[in-house]
Amino acid sequence: TGVAALYITHDLAVVAQVADDILVLRHGKRIEHGTTEQIITAPGEPYTQALVSVRSIDHVEKADAPAVLQIQNVTARYRGTHFDVLKNITMDLPAGQTLAVVGESGSGKSTLARVITGLLPPSQGRIRFAGRELAPALAARTRDDLREVQMIYQMADTAMNPRQTVGTIIGRPLEFYFGLRGEAKRKRIQELLDQIEMSKGFIDRYPAELSGGQKQRVCIARALAAKPKLIICDEVTSALDPLVADGILKLLLALQAAEGVAYLFITHDLATVRAIADRIAVMYRGEVRRYGQKTDVLTPPFDDYTDLLLSSVPEMKMGWLEGVLDSRRMEAAGN
Ligand SMILES: Nc1ncnc2c1ncn2[C@@H]1O[C@H](COP(=O)(O)OP(=O)(O)O)[C@@H](O)[C@H]1O
Ligand SMILES: [Mg+2]
Repeated sequence: TGVAALYITHDLAVVAQVADDILVLRHGKRIEHGTTEQIITAPGEPYTQALVSVRSIDHVEKADAPAVLQIQNVTARYRGTHFDVLKNITMDLPAGQTLAVVGESGSGKSTLARVITGLLPPSQGRIRFAGRELAPALAARTRDDLREVQMIYQMADTAMNPRQTVGTIIGRPLEFYFGLRGEAKRKRIQELLDQIEMSKGFIDRYPAELSGGQKQRVCIARALAAKPKLIICDEVTSALDPLVADGILKLLLALQAAEGVAYLFITHDLATVRAIADRIAVMYRGEVRRYGQKTDVLTPPFDDYTDLLLSSVPEMKMGWLEGVLDSRRMEAAGN
């Protein structure tokens, strides 16, 4: 139709496939403007260079350790529906490690998080945590069960009360779980702000006065405040630009090293998985397609679905999309 398109995104690998020209903005200012080829292959400005070369994290998977979380033959469905959203799911997460759960939208990743946190009791199977079996329903869980499993969400915005200050938000679990008040609470809030690399001055700010990355850091601090053994991270970097996301991943890795907390890291982004995971479970339509140590899962031979998932991650080079589509067409013709 000859229509012109203005494509707004933080994903340079995607625009490398679709754009003729790229304009890079930062803090409301134009950083650089050029053809896609120039921006991708020869960025002139340091900020653009950083954007093109993110993924500075090189995380080597940890050796096996005793499991803090065991998901055993879990099947689940939503009330009023007639199909299982999770089908006989089994996986383990070693203490102090990261299990990445990957799969396309609708594969059941967030539902698995709901089952673990007790929001959706499974119809079959069980969840073992820190050597005990968790009650299927939230209401039957102990206060320690609630405290030791924390959650961080994709949309930090909607995960915080806009009328509460950062201090109030981080202070709530300190009151609720540890009965901290007054000066003791304030001191602990400041320690937590320090851990997420934010200054004391943020304690009286409201969520609307924070950047996207800072909001997510506050959500991390709120989760840490409960001294959990497990944090479920559901797409926590998906709404952030790649440099900010990189900072959040580095922070999560540093906190894991310091606190020994395990992460169940839900994502559809395989670059993130490479950066952070020790183990990987690939989910498709409520089933586990592939599961194991990171290196094994990411080393061929692949099953068809993992192959498709891996080969669908855009690379930061022009013509990548045409190449992939061509080779899929040729494979389809060959079959
Ligand atoms: N509250 C709900 N009620 C009924 N079905 C739901 C509900 N939430 C999710 N589903 C369905 O469960 C399936 C898995 O969804 P979800 O766990 O959110 O996937 P993912 O997080 O991998 O994108 C989808 O088919 C979705 O439509
Ligand atoms: Mg989800």
